Amino acid sequence: MRIAVFASGNGSNFQVIAEAVKAGKIDGEIVLLFSDNKQAKVLERAEQLGIPHVSFSPKDFSEKSIYEGEILHLLEEKKVNFIVLAGYMRLIGPALLEAFPEKIINIHPSLLPQFPGLHGIRDAYEARVKETGVTVHYVDKGVDTGPIIAQERVIITEDDTMSSLEDKIHQVEHRLYPEVLKKIIENRERRA
Ligand code: GAR
Repeated sequence: MRIAVFASGNGSNFQVIAEAVKAGKIDGEIVLLFSDNKQAKVLERAEQLGIPHVSFSPKDFSEKSIYEGEILHLLEEKKVNFIVLAGYMRLIGPALLEAFPEKIINIHPSLLPQFPGLHGIRDAYEARVKETGVTVHYVDKGVDTGPIIAQERVIITEDDTMSSLEDKIHQVEHRLYPEVLKKIIENRERRA
């Protein structure tokens, strides 16, 4: 599998996936890290890991469709056949969705369909729910919608702060996302 990872920020999920690929735990190659944010820490991580990285923003283009066309061009050039969103904080438009049907996955820090959007952890914390979690799902045109592949619960205790909850969620993400990606790739290779 020739994988592209899209990320907008820190990139801790990108890092764990890249390490799992490097260690041979995931049968594939990360051929591209794309970021829509030129300041993102994920770009430094890609540089250190020796993974090709490209960054440009929709603001660099007159229309979002041209921005996505440019991404599509890159993906074709690199012969990408699977896309992993890891903290990519934008909707995927129709051209990319059509070019990669059931080939784009996302991770979200809540038990979807609860608390979609940009602030899944904070929204659950402020809602004072007793549990939240992590969801991995296929991407469709909605915000954190699309068929769910895996979910794991995280209990919110009386003692939790926003920061401790964030830590707990990230710990789950860092285990779950490489595991799920590994399984998807194994299943597809078995079927091929
Ligand atoms: C992760 O918690 C991921 O679930 C979330 O962004 C964070 C990225 O962290 N994604 C979303 O909220 C998508 N709606 P990272 O940059 O350290 O991997």
